[in-house]
Order: sequence, then C-alpha cells, then structure tokens
Amino acid sequence: MGAIKAVQGAGRTTRARISAPAVAARKMNRDGGGERLVMVTAYDAPGARIAHRAGVDIVLVGDSLAMVVLGYEDTLQVTVEDMAHHTAAVHRGLQACEASGVEHPRPLVVGDLPWMGYHTGTHDAVRNAAMLIRAGAGAVKLEGGRKRTDVVKAIIDAEIPVMGHIGLTPQSVNAMGGFKVQGRQLSEARSLIDDAVALVESGVFAMVLEGVPDVLAKVITETVPVPVIGIGAGPDCDGQVLVWHDLLGIEDRLAPKFVRRYADIGTACQAAIEAYVEDVRTQAFPNKSESYVASVDLTEALLAGTTPEGLAAAGRVLSADAEDYLAGLYGSYAG
Ligand code: KIV
Repeated sequence: MGAIKAVQGAGRTTRARISAPAVAARKMNRDGGGERLVMVTAYDAPGARIAHRAGVDIVLVGDSLAMVVLGYEDTLQVTVEDMAHHTAAVHRGLQACEASGVEHPRPLVVGDLPWMGYHTGTHDAVRNAAMLIRAGAGAVKLEGGRKRTDVVKAIIDAEIPVMGHIGLTPQSVNAMGGFKVQGRQLSEARSLIDDAVALVESGVFAMVLEGVPDVLAKVITETVPVPVIGIGAGPDCDGQVLVWHDLLGIEDRLAPKFVRRYADIGTACQAAIEAYVEDVRTQAFPNKSESYVASVDLTEALLAGTTPEGLAAAGRVLSADAEDYLAGLYGSYAG
C-alpha cells in the first residue's frame, strides 16, 4: 500500500519501494480508518533483511544505536559518521533482500541525525543530512519542534524529506532532567501541539511522538495532516515504532512500560552460546561432518610414517578418535 509498483523497462526491474511521500499519504482517515504505519529500528544488514521480510514500512536507523548497540548510557555519544556507517549497512541489507525477490516493498530508510548533527547551524545540518542520504537513507529524522524549524526547512530545501520527533526527545536528556514523560501539564501539552503544528508548517512528511499521555497523542494525531508515529504515546497514532532490541528482548536494561517484547532472543542467544561453550570444551564440536576431509593422497602423505609406536616415541599420545581415524585409514595402525 502506498508503494511505488515494480516497473520493468530497458532490461531492468525496479521493485516496489516505500518513499517519504508514500508514507505521508498513509495518514489515517478522520474516523481512524486506514492501515497503521509500522516502523522499527535496525542498525545492520541482517536486521534490515529481517525487517524487510517481515513487511515493515519504515526502518529507522535510530541514534538509539548509542545505547542498544554501542553500550552508552544515552544517545549523545554517536556521531554523524557512526550514523552513516550503520545507515549504509542497513541500506546494503535491504538491497540484498530486494535482490533476493522478497515479496514486500522495500521499506523507507530514515537516518537519525544525532546530537550536534543539526545544532550548529543550517549549513552543518544540511551537510550532515546529505551524508545520511548518501549512505542510503531516503529521509532523515531530527528532534525538536519550533526551535528546529529553520533547520527542518533548510534540509527540506535541499530536497531531503524530514521526519520530526517531539515529546520525550532523548537528545535533550540533560535539559529534561532524565527520560521523562512529557506533556503531563496543560501548558506543556499545548506547547507540544504548537510544536507539532510548526513542524507541519515547516514541511515534515511525518513525525515521531514519544513518551506523552495517550490523550495528548490522540489530539496531536487528529490535529496534524501528516502521519504521527507513536512510541509510548498510546494506540491512537497513525503508526507505531519500537526499538529492535526492546521488541526482541535483547536489551538488558529495564524496559519502559510501553515496550512490548515479542520474543526473548537474549535468553535464546545465551542458551545457544552456553551449549557451544560446552561442546567445544567436551570436544563434541566440531564433529567429522563439520570438518573438511583431505584427499587420500594428502592424508597418506601427511601421515606417512606416523605409527602409534613412532608417535609414542615422540611423546605424542593419540586420542581414541585419532586412533579410530588412523585405523580407518590403515587398519593395521589401530594400537
Ligand atoms: O533512536 C531511536 O531509536 C528513536 C526511536 C525511539 C523513535 O528515535
């Protein structure tokens, strides 16, 4: 839905892709009808492929990268270069998935502009947004409302679609005094509505609304003509976004109440690694079928003259497996 259809021509097939305008066109109807937008974060090629095969609409290469992948305490630690590096990995993953003939349209990649990526003026902001586009993003996201409209307009003026992000904006963690739900007071709520309207007037094609009471999210969603994608903002938004590691149960940190865990991948990974540790230590891994077998000629040349007596004289003790192996090759070698 909303995607560009596959076009054939000049021996080339362009498969369906979801663009920023296609996302903008997915605003819910007045009565709340219409399919909700699904956005998920991803930071690498395998993650992008999984998200594409699952049929998400938007992959956000979020600056949550700092916390869930790189182990920092907040999102302030990642640079534009870090974001471009991971955006490129996501882009390659989607390209490979598309080439493999996946049935879903290619999701829109949104690259997150990190802290200090757009705070030092419009010139820097446009250059940094361009870096994410060149890495493979189809749009960028930045945090803030009325304060950031000059920057939003400058980036859009450079033909780069912008997704806004208001409410709990993690890059303002120090200014907000922590990761706190926003808009609980009427004045704050009104201020967020003004921010949402200002972002729309600046030209954003969609916006993320994070960590606000559900009724405020409903009012903002009904007020603005672009899709509002919620996280910790209740069920009445045009779409939802979750962080990969939260959704899959990979993140150890205490999850906020809005996170729904759809899997416990962290526990499954731990059990798998524990089994591997055990198998290596007990020599159950690798077995013969997991090993490369040399030609008879090479085997004989390598083992020529290797008798149990000769090995014992050289102080080398054959394992039972090696004895079996030699016995298999040279029946008489079984010692
Ligand atoms: O960086 C991120 O993952 C985000 C989402 C939480 C919206 O901005």
